[in-house]
Amino acid sequence: RPEMPYLDLALLEARSRELLPEPVYDYYAGGAETETTMREATEAWRAWRLRPRVLRGITTAQLGTELLGAPVRAPIGIAPWAYQAMAHPDGELATARAAAATGALMTVSTSANNSLEEVAAAAPGSPQWFQLYRLHSERHTDDLARRAGDAGYRALVLTVDVPVLGRRRRDMEHDFVHRAGVRMANRPPEGEEPTLDGLATATWTFDEIARFGELSGLPVVVKGVLRGDDAVSCVQAGAAAVWVTTHGGRQADPAVSSAYALPEVVDAVGDDVKVYVDGGIRSGSDALTALALGADAVFLGRPIAWGLTTGGERGVAGVLDGLTEELAHAMVMCGLPDVRSVPRDTVTPAR
Ligand code: FNR
Repeated sequence: RPEMPYLDLALLEARSRELLPEPVYDYYAGGAETETTMREATEAWRAWRLRPRVLRGITTAQLGTELLGAPVRAPIGIAPWAYQAMAHPDGELATARAAAATGALMTVSTSANNSLEEVAAAAPGSPQWFQLYRLHSERHTDDLARRAGDAGYRALVLTVDVPVLGRRRRDMEHDFVHRAGVRMANRPPEGEEPTLDGLATATWTFDEIARFGELSGLPVVVKGVLRGDDAVSCVQAGAAAVWVTTHGGRQADPAVSSAYALPEVVDAVGDDVKVYVDGGIRSGSDALTALALGADAVFLGRPIAWGLTTGGERGVAGVLDGLTEELAHAMVMCGLPDVRSVPRDTVTPAR
């Protein structure tokens, strides 16, 4: 973002809107039903205010941390999002290279335009997680889990908030499911072509957590948890971590915001279980608020899409660098030395 004095995500989105065909922009930008959850996601972080500590002699903050044992430069990762080749010809490969260049962890979607092996090869040595949806057959889904383990992914992210596909009115308007027509590279070698609505996971139960963990040989992160009781059940069923999310407001609507669900989940699972969060994180202070509320890291969806659309690999790296700079600044501003121990009393309700 050489021409940008600071990270302006609204501008990147506006430019993306000009660059992309309308159905593609709407697929990336839209949410389910009345888009209430999506709209509230960002506001929910801003319902908290920082309580800066002064006179602590803190001039720099330590941002480095680990995600399930993988070292990363900052607790800001890339959420799985589908069909990245519609944003930029290099698709997931550009995102993977940007993640590697900035020391960030990328989560690769089942619905990627490049195969999971291709994305892994684009960023050798850089930590990646693979996000699993259900394909049409159990056999092909199991095969994906095994391939993720073989390809060197560090964790399997089970997305469990898609029992059925959310009713995304913009996509229904454009008949997006059928016109997508893009390569879904992780599909089975032969057989039925999965579509957006073929990925639903209504058949899954808690037993799937241990089963996919064994198949892949990887720790399992359960993505899509919004309740403390569910989070506890996931951990009891073998999950290494839970990921609090509303799927970017693309599934249940209106659903509780990630920012409201996060403290409940953190309190329920206790200190020993890692909790990740995404949804509406748009600034370093949003990220800091999430860390204060107990998240171990935050993830970004649409900001990465706008970076990729407007600038390819460099665009994604610019978004990650921008957010990381903002987080470093917010940490020092609040007198906090280390992202691994941000006290809860760093934030207070706005009113
Ligand atoms: C998503 N998300 C998503 N999640 C997932 O587990 N598998 C997927 O394939 C996708 N695909 C996808 C496509 C697009 C275009 C978006 C915007 C989102 C959800 C994603 O991982 C994440 O939860 C949200 O995007 C986070 O919210 P923000 O950062 O977009 O507000």
